[in-house]
Amino acid sequence: MRVIFNTLTLLLFLYSINGEITNCRYYPRYHAAPPYGWMNDPNGLTFFKNNYHLFYQFNPDSALVPGTAHWGHMKSTNLVHWQHLPIAMYPNNTYDRSGVFSGSALIEDGKMYLYYTAHINHPGETPDHEESQALAISEDGVNVVKYENNPIILGAGRQPDIRDPKIWKHGDTYYLVLGNKFIKNDTELGRVLLYSSKDKYNWEEDSIVAASDGPLGYMWECPDFFQIGGYFVLLFSPQGVKPEGDKFLNLYQCGYIVGSFDYVTRKFVPKTEFRELDHGHDFYATQSILDNKKRRLVLAWNDMWETNYAEQNDGFTGQMTLPRILTLTKDLRLLQRPVPEIREARDNVICTGRASGGTSVTLADKAGEVNIRASPSSDLELSIEGKNRSVLIYYDATNGQISLDRGGDDGLRRTEWKPKYILKMTIFIDASSVEVFCGDGEVTMSSRFFIDGPLSVRLGDNCEVEQFRVINLKRTIPVDCSDE
Ligand SMILES: *[C@@H]1O[C@H](CO)[C@@H](O)[C@H](O)[C@H]1NC(C)=O
Ligand SMILES: *[C@@H]1O[C@H](CO)[C@@H](O)[C@H](O)[C@H]1NC(C)=O
Ligand SMILES: *[C@@H]1O[C@H](CO)[C@@H](O)[C@H](O)[C@H]1NC(C)=O
Repeated sequence: MRVIFNTLTLLLFLYSINGEITNCRYYPRYHAAPPYGWMNDPNGLTFFKNNYHLFYQFNPDSALVPGTAHWGHMKSTNLVHWQHLPIAMYPNNTYDRSGVFSGSALIEDGKMYLYYTAHINHPGETPDHEESQALAISEDGVNVVKYENNPIILGAGRQPDIRDPKIWKHGDTYYLVLGNKFIKNDTELGRVLLYSSKDKYNWEEDSIVAASDGPLGYMWECPDFFQIGGYFVLLFSPQGVKPEGDKFLNLYQCGYIVGSFDYVTRKFVPKTEFRELDHGHDFYATQSILDNKKRRLVLAWNDMWETNYAEQNDGFTGQMTLPRILTLTKDLRLLQRPVPEIREARDNVICTGRASGGTSVTLADKAGEVNIRASPSSDLELSIEGKNRSVLIYYDATNGQISLDRGGDDGLRRTEWKPKYILKMTIFIDASSVEVFCGDGEVTMSSRFFIDGPLSVRLGDNCEVEQFRVINLKRTIPVDCSDE
């Protein structure tokens, strides 16, 4: 009896580590998520041979820990319907044995060139790790072959934290930026390094794009550097920024600096301060691309380090935000709009038209889109409600602020928002996530929540809105499980 019990326990254990979503209550219906296991940063977002490809930091062995990073892989024709593909890269070479870390893609000559960070741990030594940059190539968009002369950038004098290459081509030259930690006056500080190459294989460091002087933290991860509306945006994820009122409340931040950049001197001149890109709880490690329609798309890991969300017990961790289109305003702020392709996930309209306080509708499968139009001079309250708790979205007309409160410890996120003639809001709800797009995308709030039972959307008691449209969204990510 004892033997049988032990064998059964072992089988159950093997089954659970073999990768299976055991319960769908928190698994996204239309956001990109791993088939099982742990997901963090998006990598190598690109458009190749009629498909968008999205790679990501993946631990196939467990949903509880990041483990030794692999590159997971999925593709989509429309950024809405996602198909999981075989693991693209394993950490199985000497130079990347402790993890194939984050990176990006360049398409040229009908091939996909994937630049990534090769991570090695040296337990018990100082420093206890080192990072170089490596290259892998795919000709068919599925099979990925690592370059035989890896690594291609050693980063001597820049160790041990030098990672997350973001590549692009300008004229006849290739460029990439890397996140790096340096020490000045005994203080660890983050910065971004710029490299260039004439052949994609041999790289030289050109300049330091920007660096922390202390308040902007001790390490900058996942740098991205791109031209938009005649300016350059340096988008990155700094660690070690201290909270300041309603700002910088997450464990790590993600934000941007707008400035000008000269390809001749390779100098970046900032014209704005650092601003958070999103104001929710879960937004980190962005990746952007200029897609085949010349749109600047961005998405982020819709999660945060050290959160231990309840989804882990269901066999997965992490999802991506919806892809958004970035544009720059005249006063140098980034606007984010959800890609219009999201319409392809729409099912039936549950309600539409004017609505007054207390109106409540239940989503068919915990997934929906809510469009609101109202007067900016009245407060507005909306809640997402389930069996035992709710998420509150609140517009305060007097103070010109928008809040999202998911309850629990550190539940509140709040920022300034002063809509002028009309208040417009679009909210995407998906099993365990909410993304709020305010106005023309001048404020977004992306957060995870874990509520059991069917989800309802309810208008606050004293609210009156001109338009309250709620649409069921359908499943666009195949996964074999049900809610329990
Ligand atoms: C790494 O793993 C992949 C997938 O199993 C395999 O194709 C490749 O040959 C391995 N490389 C090394 C160096 O072991
Ligand atoms: C180093 O720190 C000391 C004490 O905070 C300060 O006086 C000095 O100016 C700093 N030096 C540099 C080069 O930043
Ligand atoms: C809601 O229910 C879930 C599952 O029963 C539980 O894990 C969670 O703690 C509950 N939340 C609250 C606030 O009671």
